[in-house]
Amino acid sequence: MSTFKAPKGTYDLLPPDSAKYLAVREAIAAPLRNSGYGYIETPGFENVELFARGVGESTDIVTKEMYVFETKGGDRLALRPETTAAVLRAVLEANLHKAGNLPVKVWYSGSQYRYERPQKGRYRHFSQVGAEAIGAEDPALDAELIILADQSYRALGLRNFRILLNSLGDKECRPVYRAALQDFLRGLDLDEDTLRRAEINPLRVLDDKRPDVQKKLTDAPLLRDYLCDACKAYHEEVRSLLVAQGVVFEDDTKLVRGLDYYTRTTFEFVHDGLGSQSAVGGGGRYDGLSEMIGGPSLPSVGWALGVDRTVLALEAEGIEPDIPSATSVFAVPLGEEARRILFAKVTELRKNGVAADFSYGGKGLKAAMKAANRSGARYTLVLGERDLAEGVVQLKDMESGEQIAIGVNEIVAELESRLG
Ligand code: HAM
Repeated sequence: MSTFKAPKGTYDLLPPDSAKYLAVREAIAAPLRNSGYGYIETPGFENVELFARGVGESTDIVTKEMYVFETKGGDRLALRPETTAAVLRAVLEANLHKAGNLPVKVWYSGSQYRYERPQKGRYRHFSQVGAEAIGAEDPALDAELIILADQSYRALGLRNFRILLNSLGDKECRPVYRAALQDFLRGLDLDEDTLRRAEINPLRVLDDKRPDVQKKLTDAPLLRDYLCDACKAYHEEVRSLLVAQGVVFEDDTKLVRGLDYYTRTTFEFVHDGLGSQSAVGGGGRYDGLSEMIGGPSLPSVGWALGVDRTVLALEAEGIEPDIPSATSVFAVPLGEEARRILFAKVTELRKNGVAADFSYGGKGLKAAMKAANRSGARYTLVLGERDLAEGVVQLKDMESGEQIAIGVNEIVAELESRLG
């Protein structure tokens, strides 16, 4: 062990487990690539103001969880706590929205940073795969994104997840609801912090996890009863498109998200095997975000799925993602001459698309065979002194234990045919 450890709230992805994370990212990305989403990558940090304005000044993310720092040049930056605001910033900066092809559909995959209290499923460095569809107001687009997330989770074999769906209204109807909710909250016997939150962001109070607070909220007015006709119609259309596609969801009128940019459709994917950190993914519409960061009106919708929590969900359901064995052939040279010959053969196998590895460090037969076993290779090639003299190599089938001698010049053809 070195003097150093991974920082608190972080962990390393190490083989062989790291393969699961790649499999999850790939499973989430595949349906997106198949549906017109192009890959986008933005920096790991942005101007702090982008998140303050975009995610919201009163959110936990902005007030407590951002890693903010000042550069030597005097810029105030933040490690990204989420990527939606950054993606929109990038699209606006490159004028992608003016190319006349709306919506701009993009997907991303990468690290996020939040200074949270670490626990199982909640880390300070975590990873998301996300998708954003920018510049179109169409219930089918909201439905598309929910269907694609559902599809990727099903492709991974996940079953015990649920989709919670809500509408948060728009700039017409939400303020009316907000005022009504505030009136209601002011009449409750709440602690000072909560009352303050009620003044700044009353909807967030609905998300309070404390049972005694939840009890007082039983009769709180519901946004559902305040939605304007346009929001109601929009939401009904999203719902019926999902129903028509056989996507099962639950209406959750109390679903509020931890970011302030949402309007209308909001949803969360929750998994029942994860305890308190049950949200594996979430998203929704953010029709006002572009204007909040100085852009034109660009109604948009998107989601991000947490890679770490999705891996935990797989573990909770006992699912091993299909991960092909990394190595098919393991080569064991015994001696200098054998090393040169087998090294050339391994290089040739790799060029031909056969996954091959090599016993390095001049190991003896016993240690080398142990390494061959650990590699998971189906076949081992052993080239010793006597084999060299005869121009052959020993080919061992690690599954059956059967071993035969083949000509050194037949190695590549023989293995290609055996491995199909
Ligand atoms: P979010 O709900 O903050 O939304 O995060 C999405 C997912 O990231 C969560 O459901 C969870 O799986 C994962 N996640 C969040 N925080 C942590 C953490 N501390 N440790 C591990 N996993 C975590 C967003 O980030 C929005 N940008 C989603 C979006 C995209 N909305 C519209 N477009």
